[in-house]
Amino acid sequence: MRNQWYLVIMILATAVFAECCRGETDCIVEKTNGANPWTHLKFQDDAKEFQFVIVSDRTGGHRPGVFAKAMRKVNLLQPEFVISIGDLIEGYTNDKERIKSEWEEFDNIVKQLEMPFFYVAGNHDISGPEMLEIWRERRGQPYYHFVYKDVLFLCLDSEGGAKEFKKNHLDKDQQEYFREVLEKYHKVRWTLVFVHRPMWEKNRPSWLEIEKLLGERKYTVFAGHIHLYAKNVRQGRSYIRLGTTGGAIKVGDVSVGRTESICLGRFDHIVWVTMTEKGPRLANLTLDGIFSEDVTNILLADAVMEVKKKIDQGKAIVCTPIKIKGEKLVNGKTQIKITNFAFVPMRVEGGFRGHPQLTVNPNTIKEYLLPYASRIIDVEVKAAEPVKVEEISPLVLDSTIIFKAPFYEPVKCKVTNRIIIEMSR
Ligand SMILES: [Fe+2]
Repeated sequence: MRNQWYLVIMILATAVFAECCRGETDCIVEKTNGANPWTHLKFQDDAKEFQFVIVSDRTGGHRPGVFAKAMRKVNLLQPEFVISIGDLIEGYTNDKERIKSEWEEFDNIVKQLEMPFFYVAGNHDISGPEMLEIWRERRGQPYYHFVYKDVLFLCLDSEGGAKEFKKNHLDKDQQEYFREVLEKYHKVRWTLVFVHRPMWEKNRPSWLEIEKLLGERKYTVFAGHIHLYAKNVRQGRSYIRLGTTGGAIKVGDVSVGRTESICLGRFDHIVWVTMTEKGPRLANLTLDGIFSEDVTNILLADAVMEVKKKIDQGKAIVCTPIKIKGEKLVNGKTQIKITNFAFVPMRVEGGFRGHPQLTVNPNTIKEYLLPYASRIIDVEVKAAEPVKVEEISPLVLDSTIIFKAPFYEPVKCKVTNRIIIEMSR
């Protein structure tokens, strides 16, 4: 009885003091007189919405560690699952041991994901009979489908299929397979197509067959391969070609900064997809823009502030002037003094820029300094032939000061020293 009274009191209290949102008890707020510190209470909590991540190419001369780091960042985001668009290992070999060891390496990387990972085959993954055989041993059919929360996922094999090796092609069996799948799931709310090569770009005949099968349904297509992000609208649908997740970055003739790289579609990223009632909403997250809560720590921040201050004051790395007797330089000396003004250890890596008249020994530096330690490095300079002081090109030392605390990204600070050459009096 006592419990029943308690229940009644609780219900009344909730009715008087709280307002529930969307008829559920997920949100309980205190009633006010109309002025509230929020815009509205229509929470984005549709049970049919879900979020997943797409990762892109990691091949063609992949940069070690980038993809693995991306997987750690994906775990921070906690999507429901992760899907690739192919080119996961370097491949292009018939050496079975090598193929297996490349897959072992890759599988161990994706094993760290806390959610499922769906493989899609790229040209680097299935480039010949041996690679197909091993793919089948490890992953089964190179093309497949699945349905998640009423969304159909089609994973194609743009290297032909299970029988034919032909790039930019979907063999007859594969076409038939997807015809049946699309027929079976004709009522799904959306279809997402994953195909490694952007086959639509040159209207590949077998791709046109798939487009015919997709017909009037709502769909979105994702591909990779080119390593440059681009979006096309075709048949009124979005066709997205992804950049890289550690794969070779396309380097053109022009060196560009970050903004230009983004504009060119040349970046490492993952795609964060929210499947909404109106279709997929995409957020491209560049890998250098995702950090854990341990993005930095106080000691590291203090170290960087301190060393930046000393760099601005010209005190972090100091080079003494080269003094010469007479008008011409034959040989001389400078000393590089490096000081760690921080409470954490630091590394310094540097080198002299190539010089048309002088040779420098040593011409590179690599030092590790404990907190508040300093080091002096003697450097000898020689001229190929005697040269007048006023005719000597600038001698420049470029250095990088690096702080690396366990579990943190290294912080790099650049320093440039122009060494003065003067006549001694
Ligand atoms: Fe590729």
